[in-house]
Amino acid sequence: MKAQILGMGVESSCDETAVSVVRDGRDILSNIISSQIDLHKEYYGVVPEIASRAHLETINLLVGRALETAGVGFGDLAYVAATNRPGLVGSLLIGLQSAKVISYALGIPLVAVNHLEAHLYAPFMEGAVPVYPLIGLLVSGGNTALYQVRGPGDMELIGKTADDAAGEAFDKIAKYMDLGYPGGPVIERLARTASGGTIMFPKILPEPGDFRFSFSGIKTAVVNYLKKHPGAGRAEVAHAFQERVLEILVRRVFAAARGRGVKNIVVAGGVAANGRLRELLESEKRPDETIYVPSPLLCTDNAAMVAGIGYHYFRMGLYGDSTTDVHARA
Ligand code: KG4
Repeated sequence: MKAQILGMGVESSCDETAVSVVRDGRDILSNIISSQIDLHKEYYGVVPEIASRAHLETINLLVGRALETAGVGFGDLAYVAATNRPGLVGSLLIGLQSAKVISYALGIPLVAVNHLEAHLYAPFMEGAVPVYPLIGLLVSGGNTALYQVRGPGDMELIGKTADDAAGEAFDKIAKYMDLGYPGGPVIERLARTASGGTIMFPKILPEPGDFRFSFSGIKTAVVNYLKKHPGAGRAEVAHAFQERVLEILVRRVFAAARGRGVKNIVVAGGVAANGRLRELLESEKRPDETIYVPSPLLCTDNAAMVAGIGYHYFRMGLYGDSTTDVHARA
């Protein structure tokens, strides 16, 4: 039997502190997540200083819990992987520094992970083995971007948002409608209760071959509509908004996949937890196309995906060292 390789993943790029232990880049032995949503709720968004402090307060506790839940000790780890980009630099520093200390103290390799690549790897920790190339759509509160992924460490950016991220648009509209934070889940729930699709926000038709995303137009359209029709059904507005945002995502992802002759499509990140998005992807796909969407727990920020993609870097000998730094952008 092949020797098993255990790795630890550390994630702290935004408002989740997370630590995980993973076997052979696939089997999740522990996946501990501490969400800071309650700390940021009243600001309707993530406050960087509050995020850094909360990461600092919880990270050591989570490292201990991740080992304990996995039933292993520090000495069983072959590598430690941490997200070092993109994200809030103060937050990233806490996770990366913790991983550096573990790497130094145990004498095991440090692996620096691109958070976006980790998200796109998430579905492959639930059974399916990745078949490259993939078209990967990453949709979260901080990012909306489309990639062609040819293998670990080999990602080509096809297009990204020119303004807001898709999740950010959900959050801002929810804030405007006074629905709470984060906006995605509440808008999805409210949209499900809409009585009919009578409200139509303008369609955004990109030039063929233009893979940029934009959500500020639809956001303005919703705000203007609500100003003009203060008595409008809130569920109907939420439904119309969600349909337009998801339509933009679904069109782009299939246009990219078909234009490049790629049959495997991964959709990941917080917005991929949206059930209506999953429905639209399934109904739009052709029989020879396969859609991979992680289960909701692996859609939002977690460290299992960091340990998972980190395993491949570890196997390839792509290590970081004490000079590895954090970066706000990918
Ligand atoms: O990946 P994630 O946890 O990290 C950030 O980038 O912050 O994504 C969070 C984002 C938030 O904007 C949230 O509103 C959105 O994902 N989100 C959703 C849903 N669940 C979370 N958006 C639409 N529908 C959902 N069900």
